[in-house]
Amino acid sequence: MKKDETYIVHGLFNDDDVLINSIKSAQEKGFKVKEVYSPFPIHKLNDVIGLKSTRISYSALISGLVGLLLSVWMIWYMMIFDWPQNIGGKPIASFIKAMPAFVPVIFEIIVLFAVVFMVISYFFKNKLFPGNKKGNPDVRTTDNMFLVEFILNNDTKQIVELLKDTGAVEVKVFNVSDKKEIKFWQKSAEIISLLMIAITIISCNSNAPKRNPADVFMPDMYKSVAYEPYSENSMLKPVLGTIKRGFMPYEIDNTLQGYNNALASLKMPIKQTAFNLKQGKELYNIYCISCHGKNGDGNGKLVLNEKILGIPEYSKTKLPNITEGSIFHVITYGKNMMGSHSSQLTATERWQIVQYVLKLRE
Ligand code: HEC
Repeated sequence: MKKDETYIVHGLFNDDDVLINSIKSAQEKGFKVKEVYSPFPIHKLNDVIGLKSTRISYSALISGLVGLLLSVWMIWYMMIFDWPQNIGGKPIASFIKAMPAFVPVIFEIIVLFAVVFMVISYFFKNKLFPGNKKGNPDVRTTDNMFLVEFILNNDTKQIVELLKDTGAVEVKVFNVSDKKEIKFWQKSAEIISLLMIAITIISCNSNAPKRNPADVFMPDMYKSVAYEPYSENSMLKPVLGTIKRGFMPYEIDNTLQGYNNALASLKMPIKQTAFNLKQGKELYNIYCISCHGKNGDGNGKLVLNEKILGIPEYSKTKLPNITEGSIFHVITYGKNMMGSHSSQLTATERWQIVQYVLKLRE
């Protein structure tokens, strides 16, 4: 053996305890283990060969934080800044107040980022990507054998003997300079999988002659005797004139005449109190602020961002004629571009908002 050459020594074992003992005695003689290949994790092994613990959790932390920042920014931009929308009565004017509704989304995005980037960094660190040469020197280590690898640049006799004495079933020595070349046909696994992918994609071709539809496995579900809802055999309609609990019917029609009617004669059935005004302000800031603006000047976020136009100012100069009745009517039915709010707000809540709109007109 020439001096100054590098040799790889492989010792193959068929028992992990024997392997560990062998590694220990090699280390006592001063040999350093380069790598161990095993079909499964051997718990004591980390300590024996002094593996450092992985830092992949930092990768998870960092990508999770990136996810946190991105999701907060995304939600703020979409839901608060660019196009605030009233969904389910969520306060839209403030990120902090609407926060509880955003938490699930933020949480999911954090998890998504942490998981995806942790997997990517795991693959990257382990060089597991398509087309990379396999690093495993002996396929038997994916089945029932264990392989310990030493790299030496001097006499290999001592380590070879030591491995044999301590129970290695096979010892091999390679000179690093005579590298093996991977022949084309040795890549057959890759070629076969590429072919299979290609065949799968080609088989999706819709120009293929149409086949008959498959047989129905259990037709009962399709051919069941279905009853129409609200027919004699199923649920009956509620008695005419039934209303739900707490619902106050509004008898004025959604017509111009109805509007004028409400304007002229509809009066507020609830008292003007500080409590009602406060409730009205809170609801206004959820349901109306994105269009009508904080002070009722018609400069809501959606107007400023040019998502909607033509919002009137509530002031007495701009809308001299509106009354409590007409405001209630408009909240109930909507008007032109403004939608109805009767499904989100009870009649009492609508009247509370009316009180606040009247206050903004002062
Ligand atoms: C999607 C945007 C939008 C929202 C949300 C909205 N409005 Fe309007 N509102 C409008 C538009 C547009 C008009 C002008 C309608 C017209 O006259 O063509 C209007 C008109 C009005 C008027 C004047 C109606 C009249 O008789 O001329 C009142 C009062 C009013 N809104 C109150 C409210 C209140 C109270 C809320 C919250 C419950 C609310 N709006 C929510 C868009 C909106």
